[in-house]
Amino acid sequence: MGKGVFITFEGIDGCGKSLMLKRTAAALRERGLEPLLTREPGGSELGRRFRRLILDSPFDSVDERTETLLFAADRACHVRQVITPALEAGSIVLCDRYIDSTLAYQGYGRGLDIDFLRRLNDFAGCGLRPDLTLLLDVDPAIAAARRGAKADRMEQEQAEFFARVRAGYLALAGQCPRIAVIDASAAPERVAEQVWDKVRELL
Ligand code: TYD
Repeated sequence: MGKGVFITFEGIDGCGKSLMLKRTAAALRERGLEPLLTREPGGSELGRRFRRLILDSPFDSVDERTETLLFAADRACHVRQVITPALEAGSIVLCDRYIDSTLAYQGYGRGLDIDFLRRLNDFAGCGLRPDLTLLLDVDPAIAAARRGAKADRMEQEQAEFFARVRAGYLALAGQCPRIAVIDASAAPERVAEQVWDKVRELL
């Protein structure tokens, strides 16, 4: 493990995490720091092809095991090619989704075995864990209203799916002190303040 700092942003689709990641990056830049912004799926060159396969394929064309392995493959090359070198160079890495997405979506959402997914995450990520995970928690109905009209393959899931994913995230947060739950139903300014408080505590 290098000397950088690894922060991940998690939550159901439409929770606003991408905006909060950008706000956090801006706050860090104001303090003279230059964070690396990345995401899963699609944070590496090869991963951008995985992202298209995973998200742009027709709704019924990817079964849950194939989906899980594609996310894991994306993670493996992302960690190897992008995240680890940045951490070793001392960077602050801000990543939109990481291992908790697999546990929440494929585990709690799709019903796959959580212990197996933890081992798969360790294999794909070479055991790399975030220093801090910001879970932007919001009711699925609010998140659905925030999402645009154009839905990718995952976003075409039903409300019950997102309710399971949300409950899964909260269960993970209850087991793991690295995960900070942020109330993402608040106004963006308030959410950004809560996020920044957690980041500042860490740095
Ligand atoms: P995301 O990039 O957040 O979507 P958007 O660009 O629309 O904001 O995430 C892509 C989707 O992939 C999202 O529905 C969550 C899902 N996902 C998983 O199911 N498992 C995973 O391990 C990861 C990384 C993402």
